[in-house]
Amino acid sequence: MTAHVPAELPPFGPGRHLLSVQQFDRESLHRLFDLADLVRPIAQRKSICTVLDGAVLGSLFFEPSTRTRLSFESAFLRLGGEVTTTTGFTFSSMAKGESIADTSRVVSGYSDALVVRHPDEGSVAEFAAASVVPVINAGDGAGEHPSQALLDFYTLRSELERRDKAVDGCTIAIVGDLKYGRTVHSLMKLLSLAEGVTFRMFSPPSLELPPEIAQYARARGHRVFDTDSVPDALTGADVVYATRVQRERMTEEVLANANVSGNLVNRQILAEAGASEIIIMHPLPRDSRLDSFDLSSDVDQLPGLSIFRQTDNGVLIRMAIFLTALGCSPDAVKATTKQRPWDATLRWP
Ligand code: CP
Repeated sequence: MTAHVPAELPPFGPGRHLLSVQQFDRESLHRLFDLADLVRPIAQRKSICTVLDGAVLGSLFFEPSTRTRLSFESAFLRLGGEVTTTTGFTFSSMAKGESIADTSRVVSGYSDALVVRHPDEGSVAEFAAASVVPVINAGDGAGEHPSQALLDFYTLRSELERRDKAVDGCTIAIVGDLKYGRTVHSLMKLLSLAEGVTFRMFSPPSLELPPEIAQYARARGHRVFDTDSVPDALTGADVVYATRVQRERMTEEVLANANVSGNLVNRQILAEAGASEIIIMHPLPRDSRLDSFDLSSDVDQLPGLSIFRQTDNGVLIRMAIFLTALGCSPDAVKATTKQRPWDATLRWP
């Protein structure tokens, strides 16, 4: 295994927790992507799979979520498993003072895998330490969001391939809240498995990238540049990855210092930078309120908009994560997959 995986976190595999993208190397990443390719027809409801028949997922979300929770749950259901879920602290016995360790041990006794989102960095690792089944990190505060980074890398690879390019050697502009945006932290670490990536970073004051993340990428041979504006960040970039201002994680003082208003990325900014054809990515949610300093919806008809291909890919990547954690081989998937006997109106690209 490569030096990318710290000694305390074993490589991701059967019966293992997924807490950090650092549990992958290049080979295991591409193995996961091959599994995602295999289950695409199941995610798109062209066929039905029952490989997880009898398995139960415990889905514990202590922070708001739309796509991560529902795509993890859809992924488990599409593989033939069942899902139990709790959302927020209010309806969990944590509201009565129960510890993470007790909660985790109890719920893991009811489940075959847990997916956990929690507002505190490091908290999902605490769940993992007390769980008797694999725990998947669905976001721990400003820490990591490994499944998002995996689907981002997978989507980026396919968007670049459409243009006869590769992740190796690509230039990516990452703009927005780089301090609290955990998806950025996980994505930069995961992209560090590629070769010769150039990162061009732009953030408002007080929302800069933690230096250890830039250091992580540089130590693996990548180039990381700070820039003064979004158009500057876009210079020579194949893709722009925009992120929301994570207002819920910052004090009023930090927010005031950041002085954010208007749009982060819109048609005019892209046109000024000569980047109207650029691949546009965003982990979502996009903050559509006025002056939210996020990706404007006026880019939605541009050819490079990839944000909904990212969300679609979230299901198949999360299916691949479950298949890996629960030790299901590609042959087991094929043996339990059949054509759907029902019809639906589908408009998959
Ligand atoms: N990208 C992401 O984590 O979205 P949700 O907060 O809706 O899950």
